[in-house]
Amino acid sequence: MSGVVDDGVSAVALDMPSSRLPGFHRRSVDARWRELAQRGDVSPEELRVLRALGAPSFDVVNQMIENAVGVFALPLGLGLNLTVNGRDHLVPMAVEEPSVVAAVSFAAKVVREAGGFTADADPSMMIGQVQLTRYGAPEVARERVLAGREQLLALANSFHPSLLRRGGGARDVQVRILPAPEGPQGEPLFIVHLLVDTQEAMGANLINTMAEGVAPLIEQLTGGRVFVRILSNLADQRLARASCRIPVDALADFDLPGEAIAEGILQASRFAEADPYRAATHNKGVMNGIDAVAIATGQDWRAIEAGAHAYACRLGRYGPLSRWTLEQGHLVGRIELPLALGMVGGATQVHPGARLGLKLLRVSDVRELAQVFASVGLAQNFAAVRALGSVGIQKGHMALHARCVAVTAGARGLDVERVAQLLVERGSVKVETARELLASFQEGPSP
Ligand code: MEV
Repeated sequence: MSGVVDDGVSAVALDMPSSRLPGFHRRSVDARWRELAQRGDVSPEELRVLRALGAPSFDVVNQMIENAVGVFALPLGLGLNLTVNGRDHLVPMAVEEPSVVAAVSFAAKVVREAGGFTADADPSMMIGQVQLTRYGAPEVARERVLAGREQLLALANSFHPSLLRRGGGARDVQVRILPAPEGPQGEPLFIVHLLVDTQEAMGANLINTMAEGVAPLIEQLTGGRVFVRILSNLADQRLARASCRIPVDALADFDLPGEAIAEGILQASRFAEADPYRAATHNKGVMNGIDAVAIATGQDWRAIEAGAHAYACRLGRYGPLSRWTLEQGHLVGRIELPLALGMVGGATQVHPGARLGLKLLRVSDVRELAQVFASVGLAQNFAAVRALGSVGIQKGHMALHARCVAVTAGARGLDVERVAQLLVERGSVKVETARELLASFQEGPSP
């Protein structure tokens, strides 16, 4: 984080602007936009995109999907305080659930004070799958496919010469023979994997073109018949990892010592390791953060979800994507998951909101993007297990949920905060109560 002056009120961008924006949540939206513009995070044109709720024009929408009739908007917030490998990132997050943005910002602040997240990501190696049937003896077919490796790679690369020129391309061919689901009477599954470095692209289109393109050659080499040809979303050759290390003393909160908070987090981690029912919710929390930044940056979040949950099952039972341990007086969190992301292609280029999201993040390439995503997932998980293992999540959630309830009841402007506060104070966060409060405002002096 070189060249950054943080005066406690606003950060002045010299080279990599700080992700600390103290008091940001208390400012008006105009003041927030002004700050982003002053820092150089957004240009005047991008401010117009923000003001238009990041919505693409209908022409763009119409090109993106079929039968388009409109645009569906989500709230866009900024996760603050994130520092990964010494670099600061503002995290654009598109999400409807209250508390997700606040949780990431809070967790990132705690971790930042402890030195920030450390993260790394694999090269963009994706897997294309080709299912071969009627191939005869499996071992003979395997030998023939592997003997044709160079031919297959050359053919695959011929479909995307520019990828090869950029240093990517098809790299390897593997064969997997799997037991037939019907039992010994069925033909074992013969699956060819084409490993492709997709560089800055998520790579779905590249891979699918290559997988379809090499299928006739696989048939020719083996005399078999190909049916399915498609990428695998279990992108386990494209993992990202993040970790953080927080002194136990720094965890003290809610009138509880750091040791008590740490113990709650360790118990939550053990719970998720032992029990798939809990692991599913633990991972839902991780994905709360990752999906939100995925949507805001135009990623294929269904692919990310599919990969994450399949990876969570890799040991034969569904488990947590992140784990927490105690190491020499520090609470240590680690996360690892597949992250098939793209900085080029797809919505990242055509959707103005996604383009802006990527710009706000200030990452230099797709591997850095994956490092930020993994850190956001771990931050989100930290905030969740910290609350779950101590005071519970309802207290914080209710305060934020109360605002939604107030809006649902018809509150607008300053009334939203006023009603929300009263709902929490009365311990009755209900639309009915909010309506009564609003009616009482109209009737006379504030309650
Ligand atoms: C709620 O959206 C997410 C949590 O349930 C995650 C968790 O339980 O770890 C709070």
